[in-house]
Amino acid sequence: MQAINASIGFDAKMWRQDIRGSLAHAAMLAHVGIISADDEAAIRQGLAEIAAEIEAGKFEWSEALEDVHMNIEARLTERIGEAGKRLHTARSRNDQVATDFRLWTRDAMDGLAAQMLDLVRALVARAEEHAGTIMPGYTHLQPAQPTTFGHHMLAYAEMIWRDRGRMLDARARLNECPLGSAAMCGTGFPIDRHATAKALGFDGPTRNSLDAVGSRDFAMEFLAACAICATHLSRLAEEIVIWTNPSFGFVKLSDGLTTGSSIMPQKRNPDAAELVRGKTGRMTGNLVGLLTVVKGLALTYAKDLQEDKEGVFDSAENLTLCLAASAAMVRDMQPNIARMAAAAGDGFSTATDLADWLVRELKLPFRDAHHVTGKLVAKAESMGVDLSGLTIAEMREVEPRITDSVFGVLTPAASVASRRSYGGTAPDNVRAMVAEWQERLA
Ligand code: ARG
Repeated sequence: MQAINASIGFDAKMWRQDIRGSLAHAAMLAHVGIISADDEAAIRQGLAEIAAEIEAGKFEWSEALEDVHMNIEARLTERIGEAGKRLHTARSRNDQVATDFRLWTRDAMDGLAAQMLDLVRALVARAEEHAGTIMPGYTHLQPAQPTTFGHHMLAYAEMIWRDRGRMLDARARLNECPLGSAAMCGTGFPIDRHATAKALGFDGPTRNSLDAVGSRDFAMEFLAACAICATHLSRLAEEIVIWTNPSFGFVKLSDGLTTGSSIMPQKRNPDAAELVRGKTGRMTGNLVGLLTVVKGLALTYAKDLQEDKEGVFDSAENLTLCLAASAAMVRDMQPNIARMAAAAGDGFSTATDLADWLVRELKLPFRDAHHVTGKLVAKAESMGVDLSGLTIAEMREVEPRITDSVFGVLTPAASVASRRSYGGTAPDNVRAMVAEWQERLA
């Protein structure tokens, strides 16, 4: 029973939040006259000493005492006697754990949101540096249209910025205090829930005691925000894996962010990127795990809910690592400008520009232009040249009205420069967007 029931092996992590919650509760009990000022002073003193013991690694956690709440309360009574036994008046472990866990999750959200901001800053800085660095753009991982490294970096800045917004939205909904809901129905003692909520930095008390002790959607939202962010980081990580492959050779990571092989002396493996990609699995798993724990659980508290914590701790810890590793890689990446520029013209990547030229200059309907361009691509491919390798005579065999000015749109540089629509890839657009970002981040 003890082995399955105890949570101290993982919930000791919440000791600071537990002590903080107890201090607020005791102060409120004294303020409304439920316990004496002397008892409250003794509790405060005792909890401060316990905090010091834990900090110093001298606290002995006991599995027989089940969880962090019982461990700390038992030690308090051991130290200060009677007053310690009065602390749990008008409180249950059900509202206590719900409060502690919200406090812990809120701190994790703040830390992760700050790291996301740092990553966005890193991406914007690289975008500023490489607004005009041409690279191949892909759909289906096949050459599609030339883009720039800066535009690509800003795509991730947008995603991570939304991830941060999701985290902060979840924080706003989390920020209500369950303390004082007691076991499930509230209490007959004249407590002041608004005071404890305020003391703990919540916007106010939760409005329904059954919901307060029985709901964990704040943790689900946190896990969802983590999983979505991890998914974005995993895509960036996958691109870093591809770009650093010598067959691409678009980007180099310095030795500090790669590993060697014990047998192959030439290896520079992007392990950090691979782990960012790989850790996404557990973060998605943690979300699905909690959704499944709570599904079908009748109101209010059941011990199933003790299973809420490990996934949250795990996602917080691993997303912290992934964000730090991602920011480090983004800052470190050395793009090979010549290599990316050369690859940007591969695969007839300016075919769309040719079709657009036919529409603009010859007034062909786009569908017809698409068809003509397809024939020109097939011709170039069969001759083993790219589009600008065709002579004007060869082009005219397909479409007699084509003129020399077509060659002006067939280079990757001309292609990116022309894409000035809002949100488009043109270097001037990217520079303007970087400026917007810098203002937002200032
Ligand atoms: N360790 C428990 C948990 O994490 C604390 C709440 C215990 N409540 C109870 N009714 N047994 O959920």
